[in-house]
Amino acid sequence: MAAKPAAASPAGPPMIAAGEARARALDAADPLRGLRERFHIPSGPDGKPSAYLCGNSLGLQPKSARDQVEQELDDWKNLAVRAHFAGRRPWYSAHEAFRESGARLVGAKPGEVVMMNSLTANLHFMLASFYRPRGRRTKVLMEGPAFPSDTYAVKSHLACRGVDPAENVVVAAPRPGEETVREEDALALIAREGPRLALVVMGGVNFLTGQLFDLERLTRAAHQVGALAGWDLAHAAGNVVLRLSEWQVDFAVWCSYKYLNGGPGALGGCFVHERHGGDPALPRMAGWWGNDPATRFQMHLIPEFIPRAGADGWQVSNPPILSLAPLRASLAIFDEVGMDALRAKSERLTGFLTDLLDQVTPAGAVRVITPRAAGARGCQVSLRARGGRATFQALAAAGVTCDFREPDVIRVAPVPLYNTFHDVWRFADALARAVAAPS
Ligand SMILES: Cc1ncc(COP(=O)(O)O)c(C=O)c1O
Repeated sequence: MAAKPAAASPAGPPMIAAGEARARALDAADPLRGLRERFHIPSGPDGKPSAYLCGNSLGLQPKSARDQVEQELDDWKNLAVRAHFAGRRPWYSAHEAFRESGARLVGAKPGEVVMMNSLTANLHFMLASFYRPRGRRTKVLMEGPAFPSDTYAVKSHLACRGVDPAENVVVAAPRPGEETVREEDALALIAREGPRLALVVMGGVNFLTGQLFDLERLTRAAHQVGALAGWDLAHAAGNVVLRLSEWQVDFAVWCSYKYLNGGPGALGGCFVHERHGGDPALPRMAGWWGNDPATRFQMHLIPEFIPRAGADGWQVSNPPILSLAPLRASLAIFDEVGMDALRAKSERLTGFLTDLLDQVTPAGAVRVITPRAAGARGCQVSLRARGGRATFQALAAAGVTCDFREPDVIRVAPVPLYNTFHDVWRFADALARAVAAPS
């Protein structure tokens, strides 16, 4: 955290009260304030709406989601197999309805995005196509710490291909005593590994620290040494503005249950740049739903796989209709509001949060580990607070929902769709009280 003002006081009432008044004023002036009404806000221990700041883990339920799911249940009930073609949203092409809204979210062309599977499964599918070791070029670069599922996916994938993961996964990690990865260190590692590097796989926004990487710059650096670049956008999709197509990203994968509010275990997303998607010869793990729909039901009569152009050519199975339904409700809201407006509010929310923490928490009690610069973070702010888990529990008791990652990181994510400046104030107030309390 940057130096606190000299007068930073314990959780003194005047400072806290001023913060609350400011929060109320910011909410009154917020052009997006009406969106909150479209989501179910869980209650806290007192039965009142909690300050839910955990959209980085599981986004809230859009009120319109239930109706979308019920429509599919009704079509199943009334039409059964006929709903594949005669349903209100024919199941045969259900995933195609997500092309445009999915693409808008990540700055892609419609044919470059398919919503399918889950994140880690999609990462495996992408590795099958884009990890192409040849000669000395066998290494994968990741960031440290990467989300464990990504590390498991990459290492196990290498092992399946007969490549020793211990020798072939290189990690761009924070320097000793630092919390985030210096981009110049990642760039230097890419340059150093150059002819040995096959692929860069990084999180667009790091799951632990909330650090937002410069995807365009790192992708370009990978390409300059002859490697490819793929991104895990679990913490970036629906959070920050992305331009995957323009940035020449090779592939990306994400989940839809965090910032995209698609519900627990919701369908993931997958981006394949058009220069790859248009290449039917690219090796892939194929399934019938990636086949040309015109011949898909020819079944055994045409046994050869004829890939659809674009990201759709990587889809293996028919889509889970009940899982798509809430996502449709949520993406309609994203389409209406747009990422630019959401990002603008998000920067104001996190700026308000870090300023408040400076003002209301005792010096030395809280250390923000997320980069201060708005361009180097999304809406998640991660911090280490005095009292660790006990402090986190005190927040929960005060009706503030955020999350805790061992050994001592509290992650808090004001989400512009449904969080208020007052939610942020509640968090800062509860945190100030918790860290000021004698342990
Ligand atoms: C950064 C990141 N990558 C991968 C995953 C794993 O996602 P899934 O369970 O959908 O495969 C998560 C889950 O939270 C995540 O945060």
